Amino acid sequence: MVKYLIKDIADGVKLLRLDDDRTRYFEAAWHIPEGVTYNSYLIESSEGQMLIDTWKGQYSELFMKAIKEITDISKIKYVIINHAEPDHTGSLPVLLREAKDAKVVVNVAGIKLLKAKYDIKNEIVSIEGTKEVKLLGEDFIFIHVPWVHWPETMLSYQKRTKILYTCDVFGSFSIPSSYRADPRDSFYLKSAEKYLITVMGYYRKYVLNAIEKVKSMNLEILKIAPSHGGIWDRNVEEPMQLFEKWAKGEPEKNKVTIAYVSMYGSVEEAVSRVYNELASKDINVKTFAINDSDYPDFEDFLTEINSSSVVLLATPTYDTSVHPRMKALLELIKDKFRGVSKPFVVMVSYGWGSNAIKYMENSLKDAGLEAILMETFREKISDEQVKKITSVIKDKIKT
Ligand SMILES: Cc1cc2nc3c(=O)[nH]c(=O)nc-3n(C[C@H](O)[C@H](O)[C@H](O)COP(=O)(O)O)c2cc1C
Ligand SMILES: [Fe+2]
Ligand SMILES: [Fe+2]
Repeated sequence: MVKYLIKDIADGVKLLRLDDDRTRYFEAAWHIPEGVTYNSYLIESSEGQMLIDTWKGQYSELFMKAIKEITDISKIKYVIINHAEPDHTGSLPVLLREAKDAKVVVNVAGIKLLKAKYDIKNEIVSIEGTKEVKLLGEDFIFIHVPWVHWPETMLSYQKRTKILYTCDVFGSFSIPSSYRADPRDSFYLKSAEKYLITVMGYYRKYVLNAIEKVKSMNLEILKIAPSHGGIWDRNVEEPMQLFEKWAKGEPEKNKVTIAYVSMYGSVEEAVSRVYNELASKDINVKTFAINDSDYPDFEDFLTEINSSSVVLLATPTYDTSVHPRMKALLELIKDKFRGVSKPFVVMVSYGWGSNAIKYMENSLKDAGLEAILMETFREKISDEQVKKITSVIKDKIKT
């Protein structure tokens, strides 16, 4: 059920959260059976009120209803837009139609983006770079952190409450039952890592830049308030470290992830031999099988890769090249793991002749990824190959 939540999160700051369990494929790409939230924040001061970010467009009417429950629209003097993507600005046109005097505060790079998409008549306050600005008696520092996730993205730090509003950064998929992010909830952490890898993976080095920039400013931060998921309000060092670790793709101990395609079982049999060897040595192996009964969610696989020591990809040859499903997976790996230090092992089977191994090698090389071992076999893998693959993986694994 689509619903909303309104919650006081600090003196004069209200969270307006839309719980969206209707969107099944975020950005028409990422399967999210766990749902997603859009968080907007209402800041109340004696001189008037401000909003930070809005909701996705299809929820505009609900957004207006939620705001009207807690304030009079005419009191809204500013709408701060940290990020122009429509999951945060879709409800802006409907809001501005009623809040005629509200000014839109946005990074200079965001003006073009907003104007290209929406017919905005309201006055725009353009923010260049990183800047301190007083709005209605509230001191803000707007921090330009480009490419997390678009060129205009900025973070807004509210000095009085010491809240850092971060939009996509530190955000997560899923609809947590609490408005707070729980760093001990492993499902929530997985959803946050999945969000980072799928939506922001291509820009992971900018996420690191943004965290670095915030750290270098020595701000006292009590709460991190993203526009997806829960608010981090316990120890903000914790999400900083987590997102840094995820953005770097740092491996967990002892973890291998295998993804394979198998049409008639040859690759599957070879993989299961390698799997048995690894599992018998107490290595934590996660397996994703793409076969005639199952297409697992690629987004889960990408998330598991991110924290793996070694990744094993196995495919049959298909039309002289790599199986189409493995090609699709490789394209995602190229986008989301470009330049990440992560060793790959490749297995390719064939019937009469194959260029598939070359395709695998070039794809990984294209993305600056390292294939530490590539083995080809004709229908059946040999004992020696199984031994070699397992020993190379064992040597490379982080224990
Ligand atoms: C639709 C299809 C296309 C194939 N194309 C090739 C090919 O172009 N070159 C080749 O050497 N083998 C090709 N093969 C043979 C497979 O690569 C080989 O049988 C492989 O071991 C199958 O592994 P699997 O049973 O795990 O799917 C093809 C097989 C199928 C079913
Ligand atoms: Fe975004
Ligand atoms: Fe977003």
